[in-house]
Amino acid sequence: MKIVEQVIEKIKSQFEGDATGHDWHHIMRVYNLSRYIQEVEGGDLKIIELAALLHDISDHKLNGGKLDEGGKVAAKILEELGEDEDTISQVKYIIDNVSYKGANTKAEMKTLEGRIVQDADRLDAIGAIGIARTFAYGGNRNRPIYEPEHKAKMHESFEDYFNSKSHTINHFYEKLLLLKDRLNTPTGIKLGEERHQLMENYLDAFFKEWNFNVLQEKE
Ligand code: ADP
Ligand code: NI
Repeated sequence: MKIVEQVIEKIKSQFEGDATGHDWHHIMRVYNLSRYIQEVEGGDLKIIELAALLHDISDHKLNGGKLDEGGKVAAKILEELGEDEDTISQVKYIIDNVSYKGANTKAEMKTLEGRIVQDADRLDAIGAIGIARTFAYGGNRNRPIYEPEHKAKMHESFEDYFNSKSHTINHFYEKLLLLKDRLNTPTGIKLGEERHQLMENYLDAFFKEWNFNVLQEKE
């Protein structure tokens, strides 16, 4: 069996049933998007596939805040499957650097393979799926959908971002709407355009509905 299939078999059950938006279907979408971008942009397909499959294997938001756990867990899985050191270190590097750490942290991804997987992960965070995942995550964390008395707030640092307990609509302003300018590859940027526009339209509609009474009174 190919290493990629072995990894799928090994990790699939761990993601099934997750309700935070980091479920198995997210992993598969990132995997498929990565493969699509690789076809156009190039890069080592095996590294890309392995990094896409393992990128959320131990997310710091879901593992009690351990930032470097994901890369270590991924490396261990690949070691056990007999993968070579060079492949493991390339995959580990991507997983250690793929995550968004707030608007003020400039995460640098040094490899093409990493930039592709990061684009795929970010594309799945925006657009129609992105909106669904965001409200699912907010609900899972008991966060309100929106609180108009708390204006959209930008964080100052990664700690601020990490500890933020704000309403879910705020997440659009602290992350989702910023992602289109943080996509790396031409193919990723192109795929992001429609998804970004859909979020802008969604937010317009959201606030229009939210403020319905106010509008009625004005007319
Ligand atoms: P990354 O893939 O850059 O690590 P995350 O794992 O932080 O991104 O986030 C993935 C998705 O989880 C987000 O795109 C969003 O849908 C959801 N999410 C993460 N943090 C929040 C939050 N504070 N509020 C709402 N949704 C969130
Ligand atoms: Ni992800």
